[in-house]
Amino acid sequence: MPLPAGFANPLVVAIDRPDLASALSLAHRLRGVAGCFKLGLELFVAEGPAAVRAFTALRTPIFLDLKLHDIPNTVAAAVRRAAVLGPALLTVHASGGPAMLRAAAEAARSANSSMRLLAVTVLTSLDGEDLAAIGIEREPLAQAVHLARLAVACGIEGIVCSPAEIAAIRAAVGPEPILVVPGIRPEQSGLGDQKRTASPSQARAAGADLIVVGRPITAASDPVAAAEAILAQLEAAPAR
Ligand code: C5P
Repeated sequence: MPLPAGFANPLVVAIDRPDLASALSLAHRLRGVAGCFKLGLELFVAEGPAAVRAFTALRTPIFLDLKLHDIPNTVAAAVRRAAVLGPALLTVHASGGPAMLRAAAEAARSANSSMRLLAVTVLTSLDGEDLAAIGIEREPLAQAVHLARLAVACGIEGIVCSPAEIAAIRAAVGPEPILVVPGIRPEQSGLGDQKRTASPSQARAAGADLIVVGRPITAASDPVAAAEAILAQLEAAPAR
């Protein structure tokens, strides 16, 4: 699978910073190494669309991780507004349902931008007990596969999934959808509190198109060296 347009490499760095100044300062250092910068809810709630506009000047693709989930009309309107900001990728929740997913996909297509939508399936913070608590009897993996299939059938072009779900989701959705995978821990780093992780090369070999890495880079004493080490691991791994 070729990388999305404008991506120099498959490494997405999650710039999880509370304010624009510290986010930009980190991104300036990582510019030219990261293939994409992921901006999430904390920064967007704090700084708004101005944060996305400021990142545009870095000329590195932007992944706007807003995980939209609302009625179809509201999500479609938000997708259109997000497209104006020019991110390469934007997330919606697959559990918003078919009408919401179709409305989001249609809004993205009609927005005259190259922005691609990604569907989030089951948050990896949820286990089987949590799903049962909200009335879902399937195990997380089966539910993630179910939602991925639904999202793709509704016209969503990519899926965010954990390393453990790559193979099952790829088998369910076929070769076209882009799989974007967080929960990555480099070979040399400790697992910490993360249990369902994979190394960059494991995720790539399993079929991840893009890998999302946050703290192993952003909390490193030398973020650029950490990112370069991950890129080297990725280059050594066979892409699918
Ligand atoms: O754990 P790490 O700092 O590498 O996380 C990077 C990013 O990936 C974070 O922005 C987090 O929101 C996202 N993430 C996710 N799903 C997970 C783990 C992390 O979307 N299971």
